[in-house]
Amino acid sequence: MDKIKIFCPATVSNLSCGFDVLGLALEQVGDEMIIRKTSGNQLTIRQTEGPEIPLDPANNVAGVSARSLLDHLGSEDGFDIEIAKRIKPGSGIGSSAASAAGAVWGINQLLGAPLTTKELLPHAMTGEAIASDAWHADNVAPCLMGGFVLIRGYDPIDVIQLSFPKDLALAIIHPHLEIKTAESRTLIGDKIPLKNAVAQWGNLGGLIAGLASGDHDLISRSLVDHVAEPKRKHQIPGFEEMKTEAITSGALGFGISGSGPSVFALCRGITKAEEVGQKLADAFTPQGIAFDLYCSRIHSEGIRIIP
Ligand code: HSE
Repeated sequence: MDKIKIFCPATVSNLSCGFDVLGLALEQVGDEMIIRKTSGNQLTIRQTEGPEIPLDPANNVAGVSARSLLDHLGSEDGFDIEIAKRIKPGSGIGSSAASAAGAVWGINQLLGAPLTTKELLPHAMTGEAIASDAWHADNVAPCLMGGFVLIRGYDPIDVIQLSFPKDLALAIIHPHLEIKTAESRTLIGDKIPLKNAVAQWGNLGGLIAGLASGDHDLISRSLVDHVAEPKRKHQIPGFEEMKTEAITSGALGFGISGSGPSVFALCRGITKAEEVGQKLADAFTPQGIAFDLYCSRIHSEGIRIIP
């Protein structure tokens, strides 16, 4: 095999109470990549769709991730990475993670899978780090592995796939504003009051217990963010209006997707997600800012080969 075409899912990270440690993969939204093994020893990046991204492999998250993997393997093979970028950069639903994870997953397949999916993580994170200026895996891990993922620890990286009720679905509003993750992280600072930390880890434990036992009420009351949302929500016009609408319409919870500007409503069932999505769209429209609405189930599989 010297060519592979893959779907790289968009991801929602943080999920309110899990800053930097929780993420999930979406089923219907994502980039496509075609990766070809070439006769030379260079990496080349091409783009066929979407907003312009850097094509210099040294400045492109796919290129940096691929180089990290190839150097680790001592490989001198060359690859051409063609990206149909459907997840807009700076949207908060894992655009850079899809490119970073897709590059390493695809190249690993073309080399006969010398590394496991988990072993690919640090290489995908190396690329992700140039986009966000931070070492976080809560988008690349669910993109690579699928489903709902917990980053139990970073040193060393320890990633756990969580059980979750299969009826969960999300409505996502992506306002067409760009928020840079690196800048959005500076808003949070590096200290949180103890009472906020206690509330946050209580909710994180509650959410994971609720996911495992299929207790939707427990999931719902755990989806509260005492760390990032209070500092970041002001960057998203109409945030409070959308949150009120989501909760009164029966969503289990509502919050910022990653560092924003996308917001998510977690719902029980895709029909409910579509209904809540419409309410969110109506609540956001008065802001006069273009937006996309996505409704999707959680995808258990992560990156996958497509015809
Ligand atoms: N956990 C990261 C953050 C995700 O919130 O900064 C960025 O997509």
